[in-house]
Order: sequence, then C-alpha cells, then structure tokens
Amino acid sequence: MKKLMAANWKMYKTWDEAETTARELVGLTADKLPEDREVLVFPPFTALKGVSNALDADGFFAGGQDYYIEKEGAFTGEISPMMLKDAGAAYGLTGHSERRHVLGEGDEFVGQKTAYGLECGLKVILCVGEKIDERRAGKVEEVLERQLRAGLADVPRDVAPDRLSVAYEPVWAIGTGEVAGPAEIVDAHGFVRKILVSVFGENANEMRILYGGSVKPDNCGEIIALDNVDGVLVGGASLQSESFSRIVLAGSAIANKV
Ligand code: PGA
Repeated sequence: MKKLMAANWKMYKTWDEAETTARELVGLTADKLPEDREVLVFPPFTALKGVSNALDADGFFAGGQDYYIEKEGAFTGEISPMMLKDAGAAYGLTGHSERRHVLGEGDEFVGQKTAYGLECGLKVILCVGEKIDERRAGKVEEVLERQLRAGLADVPRDVAPDRLSVAYEPVWAIGTGEVAGPAEIVDAHGFVRKILVSVFGENANEMRILYGGSVKPDNCGEIIALDNVDGVLVGGASLQSESFSRIVLAGSAIANKV
C-alpha cells in the first residue's frame, strides 16, 4: 500500500499562487519520490485546473475539497463531482472538521457525499475526529464509530480498497500546533481499522488511514512510521512548497540522506 501525502490548502491561494506552489512542489520532489508514496493536493476550486496541470508527474494527484450530491442542477454555489473531475481532480474530501463544525454538515450528509463521490468515480477521503471535550469525556471511540458508520453507510461493501481512505483528524489538533501523541494516533488508527474491517471485511486492510492535525516537516517522519498510518493530511505546513516537500519525503531513505 502506497503512503498518501496530502495537502489541504483550504481557502488559501489565488490561481497563480496555487499553480506556482504546485510546480515548485513537483520540482522539489518528483525525481526523489519513493516508489511507495503518492502526493495529493486539494487546492481551492478556482485553482483546481491549474494545479492539476502543474502536478504533471507520476504519483501526483489533485482533489476537490468538497462537492454536492447531484450531477448538476439548480444548486447555487455548489459544485459536482463531475465538475471536479473535469477540472482534473482524482480525489474528493468529505467530512472535514471545518465542514462539520463551521459549515454545519451532519454525519448523514457526509455519508451521502462519500457514497456519491465514489459512485461518480472519484477516490474519496472521509475525515473523522473528535473534539477536545469529547476526548476528555472518554468518548473518542464512540465519536469515531458514529462518524464512520454514518459516513460509510451507503458505500458499496465491495468498493475497491484503493478508492476509499479515512483521515483521522482530532479537531483539537487541527491548526493548533498541538499534534496528537504517538499512542493516541496508534490507538485511534487501530480503532478505525477495526471498524473498517467490520464494515468491509479483509479488503479494509488495504484501505489507507491518514493522520491529520498539525503535521510538520519535523514530526512527519515519526508519525508516518506508526502502525496503521498510511499517509498524512496537512493544512498549514503544506502551503509552502519547501515545507510540504520535506513532509512528502519525511522518513524516507532520500530524506535521511539530505
Ligand atoms: P493543519 O490542518 O495541518 O493545519 O493542522 C490539517 C487539516 O485541516 O486537514
């Protein structure tokens, strides 16, 4: 299973800035990218076409940060998986904590989006994660299980495992500089794997589980080596090509030589 090193640029960067960063990233990493890694960038919609063109190297992909659950129609302000694909996206993101907690998306809607994106031919990364009060109340597994079961409810049981990934992103670690500790990550990822296996059977052992939340060049090598960590989803530290290129290569033989 290849590790997936993903950048979430959120609502940052003009088209020009995004395209330039994507080109720099390819220049810094494409000839050093280990065979067992892939790189994915989620730019804002306006920059998707430019970024997907710029990520013109083996193992590099672009994705859409969100989409609606229709092909087309009178849904002002929304965008469809087909439109994302048309602009060069191979992936879609669902359930990001900012969509859940800032934009008010519920578990069921996130589940509809996850299934619809897959049906439309996108690869999908479903994000899950607990808030700090839920962790303090000992509810991490309860929250993860609820978000996973609802998020995966309509996904076909025989979905190809390389088309569906889960990102564990504890809300309290996103954009705060407070990274989850190794034990917290290993426990949460092990639990996510267990739920995935209960839903999809043995196929789930081939699904990627990404960690997200204050991943930086300095901590990525340690995180990516943990059990059941098959990639990272990076916000702030992915915005500069130099910083994200160090994350992309972190812990690899090449990075250790540099
Ligand atoms: P962060 O964001 O790396 O800035 O914590 C991660 C995310 O929101 O996906």
